This record gives sequence, structure tokens and C-alpha cells, in this order.
Amino acid sequence: MFAVFDVWDFLILLALAIGSFLYFKGKDFTFFSKTREVEKDTTPVQQVSAYINTRNFVEKMILNNKHVIIFYGSQTGTAEDYANGLAKELQEYGLESIAADLDDYDMDNLNSLPSDRFVIFLLATYGEGEPTDNAAAFYSGLMESNENLENVHFALFGLGNTTYEHYNKVGNDVFDKLVKLNAAPLIEKGLGDADKSMEEDFLTWKETLIPELCIFFKIPPIKKNRKECIYKLIELDFTDIKPKTRWGSKNPNVYDANNPYYTKIVGYKNLTPYADRVCMKIDLQIEKDLAYQTGDHLGVLPENDPDKVLLLATLLGICEKLDEMFNLIPVDPSSKKSIFPCPTTHRIALTNFIDILAIPKTSTVALLADYAENEGEKDHLLSLIGTTNKERYYDYIINPCRTIINILQEHSSIKIPVNVLYESLPKLQVRYYSISSSSLISPETVSITAVRLEYKTTLGAIRKGIATHFLFNKSQELNSGIPVFIRKSNFRLPKNPQLPVIMIGPGTGIAPFFAFIQERAFKKSNGQPIGPTVLYFGCRNESRDFMYKDELTTYVESGLLTLHTAFSRDQEKKIYVQNRLLENGQEMYELVNNKNAVIYVCGDAKNMAREVNKAWCDIFEKHGSMSQQQAVDKVKQLRSKGRYLEDIWS
Ligand SMILES: Cc1cc2nc3c(=O)[nH]c(=O)nc-3n(C[C@H](O)[C@H](O)[C@H](O)COP(=O)(O)OP(=O)(O)OC[C@H]3O[C@@H](n4cnc5c(N)ncnc54)[C@H](O)[C@@H]3O)c2cc1C
Ligand SMILES: Cc1cc2nc3c(=O)[nH]c(=O)nc-3n(C[C@H](O)[C@H](O)[C@H](O)COP(=O)(O)O)c2cc1C
Repeated sequence: MFAVFDVWDFLILLALAIGSFLYFKGKDFTFFSKTREVEKDTTPVQQVSAYINTRNFVEKMILNNKHVIIFYGSQTGTAEDYANGLAKELQEYGLESIAADLDDYDMDNLNSLPSDRFVIFLLATYGEGEPTDNAAAFYSGLMESNENLENVHFALFGLGNTTYEHYNKVGNDVFDKLVKLNAAPLIEKGLGDADKSMEEDFLTWKETLIPELCIFFKIPPIKKNRKECIYKLIELDFTDIKPKTRWGSKNPNVYDANNPYYTKIVGYKNLTPYADRVCMKIDLQIEKDLAYQTGDHLGVLPENDPDKVLLLATLLGICEKLDEMFNLIPVDPSSKKSIFPCPTTHRIALTNFIDILAIPKTSTVALLADYAENEGEKDHLLSLIGTTNKERYYDYIINPCRTIINILQEHSSIKIPVNVLYESLPKLQVRYYSISSSSLISPETVSITAVRLEYKTTLGAIRKGIATHFLFNKSQELNSGIPVFIRKSNFRLPKNPQLPVIMIGPGTGIAPFFAFIQERAFKKSNGQPIGPTVLYFGCRNESRDFMYKDELTTYVESGLLTLHTAFSRDQEKKIYVQNRLLENGQEMYELVNNKNAVIYVCGDAKNMAREVNKAWCDIFEKHGSMSQQQAVDKVKQLRSKGRYLEDIWS
């Protein structure tokens, strides 16, 4: 038997056996169940078990002597960043904590969490009030559960955005369900609003949480440990290994954010040559492996501007080391593998993995203060953090959009090691684009419609959108090697093409509708009967930013399309798509009420989607003789039946 097991395996098994024995023995359980004293356990059991790769988080917590586990449900990285930062901060109070991806663990084990451990949930809401991809299984499992969770002590912070219809639905649902299952919330749930004040909301919630947690664990609310690095940077000498640019996947034919498909740009057009803003139509070549359906999203993994990478490397003093290989090794072996794929080089890390233009969080500012050697600079940075200094933080960091580069330039005494910065800055996120081509007509080309983002900060600097400039630069020479993948959506044309469709898509909101219209025209040309196809499009000026004007005019002339336009700045009084919708209220009401039309809204979530929703309520109230409440319910009903679909972003 020992021939097939090595000594290490034997030790692991032994550790598991001892751990399980202690756990199930209950009363004799000696980690800290009775007294809740917080001490770092360095017994051989803990050291050995730290290496066990398990999906049972309770087992992992016990064997690694973790007091707190912080689960995150995150799509675009905010909740994940908060979880990592909070785990580090709790560590400073002496609470052994671990940040954990919900997808990495079997959440069925929640009912066996000992009551002297604590669980924190940081959960974003995505889609139309849906959980993030990595929280989907946990969410559906919990919603169906009727377990008794009276042993579970928890706190929850939801991440959402008030511009969306289902504000913080996931955070609210999970909190309510946990309470229903008898789990004990330590404090009231926190809800963060990305539209206004996410960072501030999180700080406020955290300021209540930490003292309460200290009471729960019977420890003084005083930071006693130094801020520790989670990862060690190990420089590698050998040069025959290729640096990693992505995580990769077990199945090389499944393309996603970890294993993107490298595509080639085969077409580029400036759709608004007379406008201040460049609106781009970009065509990308794909193969069958990357099959998409009309209405899906294209995920693009952007790269940072090489000049900005060089500037940051210079400020960090690592210019000469940019192409040297390194590994990031977790100091605590029970924590996550690495922040990004390793071994890699600093150039790749700063180009592909880290968002070097992100607005620094207060925890990053605090970290920079730690590494400022000049007392004046340190004091300035410290004056930006803490509850009483929120306004200063907003004035200095948020409002003028200062980045880490600006702060390092203005505080030259900061000598921060690059691995510390890697831990603190957010990861560079995928950008999504609503596909503007029809999979029926061009299965091997994906088109997107995107505005090249550019704005002036209050400091007078021109800030360029990372992904849109990456795509623009690559388009100019029809470059290859653009990492992409397809994200499935529910934004689909009705199966029955005879049903009317009403599409409302101002600006780049036209993107998926251009595909919808092409597809219906294609079917019509093949002899299929097609129902009314109505588009509401809006932009500032007809002569400057009416994208796809020629194509849309042709569809109108062919009798396929009914087009309503709203050029907001072509007359004194601003006119928007919702105004046009109201003008045609009776006709729109009849299409929905008598002809089963499907309504689609795409584009700006902040103002447009909300105004359009309101316009529909007004239409039902006026033309359907409904009360205000009945009209609101009617729109909700259409949504739940999949007849009011949104593809919106802010
Ligand atoms: C599901 C989905 C579908 C989408 N479909 C499309 C689409 O079809 N077409 C399209 O063009 N976009 C679409 N987007 C948006 C797109 O993903 C990107 O967010 C957008 O292109 C900007 O990316 P960027 O990397 O160029 O900008 P970033 O580098 O990410 O910069 C954007 C950030 O800059 C800041 N900012 C912007 N303007 C200002 C200002 N004036 N002052 C201060 N700060 C400012 C904001 O914080 C903003 O979040 C979609 C988004 C989602 C989630
Ligand atoms: C496409 C999209 C859909 C969203 N849908 C919702 C929603 O239905 N309700 C809500 O409260 N917030 C919604 N949000 C806002 C996110 O929850 C918010 O931006 C949050 O900070 C994201 O956290 P994450 O970065 O950890 O994923 C949505 C954001 C995007 C980009």
C-alpha cells in the first residue's frame, strides 16, 4: 500500500483523520470553540493540512485555523477586490481570514459550519437581477434549501446599481433566505450602489462590521499585526519557460475569459466621420468553435496602453526588469493560487492583468501611505482615508479621476514593491460588446459597434478608454491576436418571426438591433413572412452621429423597417427616444396588447432605460385605461414573460 502513497500523502491522510476526529468529537474540540480565543495555530496538523485542496470550506477552515471566510460573487472584480482587501484587514486584527470564490466550494457544507466561525458574503447582482456566474449555483441551491442554518453567523454586503430595475436583488434575496433558515446576521446587511457611492457604502458597512466581529471573537478592536503580503514574488532565472498570458483551460476548445480565442480584425469603419466621437464598427473573424447566436455578447480582454505601462514601470523603478520572469507564491498555502497566471513577466502583468488606470480605493491609498518615506507625503495620503475624510478622498481621487500613476508622480517618496501593488490594484476586466451581426448571415464574422471613449478630467488630462482604444489601435492595421470569447445572452428575437418587435436603442444601443434587422430582412428575402419591425433610434445630431443611416434607410425603403428617430440636439428642445415612443403611444399599445409584440431596450442603463420603462407605463395607463399601479404591473408582467427584454449597461 505504501508503494503507491508517498510520505506526503500519508501525512495528509493523517491530518484529515485527526482533524475529522477532533471536529466530530465536538466537546473536546480544542481549536477555539469554547473560548473563541484567537491564536495562530502552528501545530503540525495545521501545517500539513494547509496543502489539502478541498471543496469543503468548513474542513479547510478548521484544518487551517481560519476564523472567517469571505465568499464573493463577482462578475467584474469589485466584490473580489473587496473580499481580498477585507481578508487582509481582518488579519491585522488577528482574525485568520480567507477570501473565497463561491464557485470553488460546495456550499452544502454551510450547515456544518461550527458556530465559532464566521462567514461573510460579498455578492454582486448582474444581468436582470441575477447572480454573477460564480454565484449562480450557490444562489439557486440556497433559494431551494430548507436546511436549518442556526449554527451560521454571518454578515452580508450586496453590490448593485440603482439604475437597474432589480437593485441589489441577489444581496437582498440571500440575506432574507439565510435569516429564514435561522442563520444569525451579526449586523444589518449593507447595500452598495455603483451608480453613486460603492466605495463609501462599503467603508460604512465595514466600519460597523469590524468592531462587532471583534466582540464576536472576544478580541480587542485594535490592529495588532502588520499588514502582511499575501503573495511572495520569486524571481526566476531560467529563460526556457514561456511566460503565461492567460490561465488556460482544461478543455482547449471551450473559450472563455481564462481561455480566450485569438481573433483577427478583418474590417473597420468609422460610423460617425463627422462627429467629435468616433463610433467604430469592427468585424472580427471567428471559427466554428466560437459559435455565437444573434443577440449574444462578445467578451474582449483588453490590454493597457504600452506607454502607460512603461510610465508606471519607471515610477516603480522596474523598467530594467520588465521582461524578467517571476512567480507569485501565496504566503499562506491555504489561500488562493495566485492573483494572475504565473510565471509571467512584469510587462505582461502590467499589460494584461492589472487595471493600471483604475481609481485607487482607500485601502490602496492607505497602503501607499505605508510606503511613503517623506512624512509630508505620508500625512497627505493619510488625510484622505477614514470616515471623517471621505470628502477629501472624493476631491483628490474620485472627482479628478486620479490613478496610481498620478499619485506616484505627485508623491515621489513612495517606494512600494511591485508585488504589493499587484495585490492592491484591481484586475483588468473583460469588456462586453453587444454583437451587431447576425449569426444566420455571417456565422464566421462577429461585428461590434463601439464608441471610442475619451474624456477630459478636471485636471485637464485626456483619459482614454482602455478597451475601446485597444480595439481602435488594433483595427488600424487589421491586426490579429485579439483575445475574445462569446457570452450567451437571453436577448433573442422571437422564435416566430411574424411577431412584431419594438426595439429602442439610442447611440450604441443600436448594436444588437442592427443584427436583428439584418436577420429579419434575410428571412424576408427567403420568403418568410415577417411581422412589424419597429426601431427607435436616437443620437445628438442627424448629420453627425446617425450611425448606420444608409443601411437603415434602405431597410425602411424596402418596407421591412419602421424607423422613429430622436435627434436630441437638432432643435432647441431636447427630444429623446422616450418622447417619440409616447408620441406613438396608441400604435405601440396596440402592437403590444393586440399583436403580442416583444419590446427590446438596449444601451444606457442610467437614464435611458429608466425613462423608456416610465414611458411604457404611461402608454399602458393612457391607452389601456389602467391605473398607475396596473400599468407598472403590466410592464413587470411583460418582463417576467420575456416580452420586455433589456441589454443595458452604465
Ligand atoms: C452587457 C454589456 C454590453 C455592452 N455593449 C456595448 C456595445 O455594444 N457598445 C459599446 O460601445 N459599449 C458596450 N458596453 C460597454 C463596454 O463594455 C465598455 O464599458 C465601454 O466600451 C468602455 O470601455 P473602455 O475600456 O474603453 O473604457 P474604460 O477604460 O473602462 O473606461 C470607462 C470608465 O471611464 C469612466 N468615465 C467615462 N466617462 C467619464 C467621464 N466623462 N468622466 C469621468 N469618468 C468617466 C467611467 O468610470 C467608466 O466606467 C457594454 C457593456 C456591457 C456590460
Ligand atoms: C450588465 C450589468 C448588469 C447589471 N445588473 C444589475 C442588476 O440587475 N441589479 C443591480 O443592483 N446591479 C446590477 N449591475 C451593477 C453591478 O452589480 C455593480 O456594477 C457591481 O459593483 C458589480 O460588482 P462586481 O464587479 O463584483 O461584479 C449590473 C451591472 C452590469 C454591468
